Parts: sequence; structure tokens; C-alpha cells
Amino acid sequence: MDAAPAKKRALERLDMLYALGGGRGANRLGGSDAEQQACEIAAAWMEEAGLEVEWDPAGNVVGRSIGSQPDLPEVWTGSHLDSVPAGGRFDGALGVVVGLEAITSVGACERTLGVVVFRDEERGCFGSRAFVERGSLPGYYVEVHVEQGPVLERAGTPLGVVTGIVGYTRREAVFEGKAGHAGTTPMAARDDALAKAAEFVVRVRDAAAAIEGAVATVGSLEVEPGAANVIPGRVRLTVDARAPDAERLDRLLTALGLDPEPQNAPAVMDESVRAVLREEIERLGLPPLELPSGAGHDAGVLASAGVETGILFVRSLNGGASHSPDELTSEEDVALATEVLAAALRRLAG
Ligand code: HGY
Ligand code: MN
Ligand code: MN
Repeated sequence: MDAAPAKKRALERLDMLYALGGGRGANRLGGSDAEQQACEIAAAWMEEAGLEVEWDPAGNVVGRSIGSQPDLPEVWTGSHLDSVPAGGRFDGALGVVVGLEAITSVGACERTLGVVVFRDEERGCFGSRAFVERGSLPGYYVEVHVEQGPVLERAGTPLGVVTGIVGYTRREAVFEGKAGHAGTTPMAARDDALAKAAEFVVRVRDAAAAIEGAVATVGSLEVEPGAANVIPGRVRLTVDARAPDAERLDRLLTALGLDPEPQNAPAVMDESVRAVLREEIERLGLPPLELPSGAGHDAGVLASAGVETGILFVRSLNGGASHSPDELTSEEDVALATEVLAAALRRLAG
């Protein structure tokens, strides 16, 4: 089958989604009109492809190609369509667009094949958490996602199989001080909330750097009252902390004086799904490179809920840039991922 039209359509669809929300980069924040619009567009594509479309109570969109044995556990692919502010063209959207292309090319199987759009992944995987709580869990889930890191680009190979997802959690910290006049309050008489927060931000950086494989980020910070000539009275900031295992994540959070619980435990990808993905990559004459994911994914929620789950990574160019308009992968790599995903779904769906 000539893959050219599908390849072209995939890139056109990614461009359509990228334009929603306006501004620089992708701006389809979780819960926004732009995310809703993206889901409605994806639902229309699913209908066009002849899939049965369902919106679940959490707003997740599911497109199904009903199998000849519909009582068998289903096989799913998909990802999310929300983005971070000024995000990349491929984060989430690639998994939905490629998943739909793969299901369209596979056609009818024994098991029902589904492509799912999970809502509001970036703020905490709300859609996939609601989904697994409903208990309508399939047999397999395979997500295609850009790597969002430099490993595949450095290895010079387009695809990789994820071994597992690091443990991660987010915290909020508030620093109280005393608002005051920037001109008349002597330095020795100040209680400057932002100076205290700034010292903490440096501690976050240093504590993570001291633990092998750990990372931590203060990505948002609000200063009150937020005027140039007022000493900050209050600062609220967020900490995103991650580590390859629970012990190191506990150590990092404790070093920062933050509660180690709750946290998302590291998620392990299913060996049988990893084997299918490795074999299909090898069938294309490519090395079956395996790697961990430093990014969280809806696939981690499904894996932790007991679904046999795998992630196929697609090479990120530009040094692995992501969560920014610099995020990039090539048309060829998108086509290769579509081919591997279709072959994997065909095998898993019988
Ligand atoms: O933050 C993450 O790891 C993912 O992009 N939601
Ligand atoms: Mn993502
Ligand atoms: Mn993301």
C-alpha cells in the first residue's frame, strides 16, 4: 500500500491540531476550549475512518474498530491532545494521529481495536486516571510518543522501546514574608518572601544534582503582591520531582523538607508488548533500542492499573527539545512509527 497519502495526512493533521489555541507553539491547555476542539476534531477523524466513537464521562474520546470476537479484551493505542503552554507540535498529538492511521491501516481483527484521546494529561493524567477507575480496561495498550530527550538522536536511530517510566510527583510550597515599602524599609528590617523562595529554588537544583538519575524543577512561581516597589509578602511555587526509583525520590523530597507521599511509582512496561515492538522494529532492519522514559505518560497510569502496556518512542530532533516550539521529529520517523505500531496492533489483536 502506498504509504505516502497516510504520511502526508498525518503531518497535515498534526499541523491542524498545532494551530488550535493560537500563540507560539501548541496551546491546548487541559480543560481549555482548544483541548475540547482538538478532541472534537479527532472524534470526527475517527468517524471518517468508520470507527464507533464514544465520549466517556471524563471527556476521553474512544474510537473503536469492533473485532470479530468483541468479547475478547480489547487492544488500544492513543495518547493526549492537551499541551503545556507554548508546547511542541508532537507531544501527545503524535500518538493520537499515528494511532488512528495505524488502526485505519490494520482493518478488522479478532479483538476490538481502540484509539483513545485521554484528557488533561499534562496537569496530572486526569483523563487516564478516571478511565482506569471506571474499570473498562483493555487487554493491551500501546502508546506512540516523541522521546522528548536526546537518546535516539544521539544513537542515530528513529525508534525505541520504553522499559519503564520514572517515579514522579509534584508539590506546592508557600513562602510567607512581610510586604513593605521597597524604598523606606531598611534591608535589616525586611522579611522578603521572594529572597527565601530563591534560596529554596537553588536548594531544589542542588539536591537533585546530588542524587544519581534524579531531576527536580521549580517551573512556576507567583509573587504577591507582585509590584516592583513592594517587598514580596508571599510566594507560591511548584516543585516537579522525579527519580528512577521510590527510594531516590523519597530521599530527594525529604532533603527538601517535602512530604514524600503521595507519589507516582515508577511504571514498568510489559515484557510481551516490549518484545512485539522490538521484533517489529527489527523487521524494518532497525536496532531495537530500549530506554527509560523521564517523562510521564498516560501509558504509566494504565500500566500501574495492570494493563499490559508498551510505549514506542519516536526520535526527537533538536537535541531532544520538548515542551517548547522547538520540538521536532521527521516525517520519515513518523511513517516508520506508524508502520511498527500497525504491525504490533495486528499481532496483539489477532
Ligand atoms: O511532565 C511530563 O513528564 C509529561 O510531559 N506530562
Ligand atoms: Mn505527552
Ligand atoms: Mn508533555
